[in-house]
Amino acid sequence: MNRRDFLRASIYASTGLIHRVSSALSAVAEIEITTSDTGPEISPHLYGQFIEHLGGVIYDGIWVGRNSKVANVDGIRKQFVDDLRRIGVPNFRWPGGCFADGYHWRDGIGDPAKRPRTYNYWQASMPDGLDDTETNQFGIHEFMQLCRLCGAEPYLAANMASGSPREFHDWVSYCNAPVGTVSLANERAMNGDKEPFGVRFWGVGNESWGCGGDMTPQEYSTLYRRFVTQFPAYPPKPFLVAVGPRGHSKDLDIGWTNGFFEAMQGGHRSRVDGLSVHYYTDFRNSPERVSTFDARGWYEVIREGLRTETVIEQHWAAMGKYDPDHHTKLVVDEWGVWYRPGEEISPAYLLSQPLTLRDALHTAVTLDVFNRHADKIAMANVAQTINCIHSLFLAQGDRFARTPVYYVFEMYSNHMRSHVASMQIRCEELKVPSRNGIATIPGLSGSASLKNQTLTVTITNPSLDAPVVARIRLTSGSIIEGRGSVLTHTEMTAGNTLDRPNEVSPSALPIVVRGNRAEISIPQHAVVALELRIS
Ligand code: AHR
Repeated sequence: MNRRDFLRASIYASTGLIHRVSSALSAVAEIEITTSDTGPEISPHLYGQFIEHLGGVIYDGIWVGRNSKVANVDGIRKQFVDDLRRIGVPNFRWPGGCFADGYHWRDGIGDPAKRPRTYNYWQASMPDGLDDTETNQFGIHEFMQLCRLCGAEPYLAANMASGSPREFHDWVSYCNAPVGTVSLANERAMNGDKEPFGVRFWGVGNESWGCGGDMTPQEYSTLYRRFVTQFPAYPPKPFLVAVGPRGHSKDLDIGWTNGFFEAMQGGHRSRVDGLSVHYYTDFRNSPERVSTFDARGWYEVIREGLRTETVIEQHWAAMGKYDPDHHTKLVVDEWGVWYRPGEEISPAYLLSQPLTLRDALHTAVTLDVFNRHADKIAMANVAQTINCIHSLFLAQGDRFARTPVYYVFEMYSNHMRSHVASMQIRCEELKVPSRNGIATIPGLSGSASLKNQTLTVTITNPSLDAPVVARIRLTSGSIIEGRGSVLTHTEMTAGNTLDRPNEVSPSALPIVVRGNRAEISIPQHAVVALELRIS
């Protein structure tokens, strides 16, 4: 590397990407991983999930009912539980989304036969003649049972737009107060759960700039303070998440972040542990379709996924002006690729999408961004786990499919609780077709982390044409053994559907290991995960 390349490399090092700007096409990448001096732990919560009462997410997707012919545990789809346990699901955000600001938690407790049928925010989006009213069969007790079955932590979103601080505080007491204290705790016990739920993560509203109340950041900050100052102090210590920006706005909605923190200055003492950022790769108003697309469509989606890094960096910088010690962390509690309607798996399954390999690569580049910024992000939740936007599963009755996105979560699961290892990738940038002509994207992107002498390395090759030989070098230690897996397909548009559930799944990737070096060949349009045991 000459001096100019070295300087350029240093500039990009913090993002984990080093591009050699050269016109010669190369299918070789040099990757250097620093194993001696690791960074922050990657919280498992970066691999979180989001489930909302919307179309086929809760009902049929997760809740099939205790008398269903579909295999279930206490009414919850068994396959859903088994698959999420397998990948170590860390949390579920629930009950919404936009649904949360119309939800009254009391409607979902007590004898299921006596629970009311209530209005659901999403009813207005249902095709004519189809019903999405809420039966309340899946309430807080059923949700907590789901969390227990999966080994996941609950993350509850409070109703701010149509609820009150009192309703919120009662919910907190109902969940967390020990039996024998307040009546709400005894009521919880009567309803089957003597032990407190111990809910730690509380979202104070959802999208308060939109479906959650259509507020300005100033109005929201006032309401936020009213909702949190009387928060009942039962253990555990809460992690309070304030509503943050609509990150997929053209200007990244930096104005919301500035406006909210500005309004929280001036002696206010209310704590903000997390700032929620929603970042959708938003193709709702573009001609892009889910399952049929060309090279331009492929690269557009992946480029938008890579933009997650800009969203994180810019909001983090804005927050730093008001909170230089960065007490408040980012919580990316909705993310995913959102295409225009028209390809739902069934008309009532609003926002469901038959995802493809393209969305798997988008997932991989996004999770790599989260890993690389593990110091800034407390949690992230993919929207949404089943039968929805960026889902890991599709399900209808007894039919079930894991999408390619599921397999990326599986391949990346070793990153959870590992420590970030700095990774420098040197390879050609790609010149790719885009809406505005030609765009440039990194030839590879990835992340690395270390736990108990096991190095996890994940890399994405977005190129539709060129495989890449990646030569990996560790700055210290030797590789004792290595294992690799790869997710790809001959067709870029391949996906798993209810009719063809096994089209895309990972397979073993050969890896050559010698001393502190490893070499792999990454096929085009592929995600790879390596596990290197090092000394
Ligand atoms: O995930 C679907 C919807 O997207 C959520 O309900 C809302 O918060 C967001 O706009």
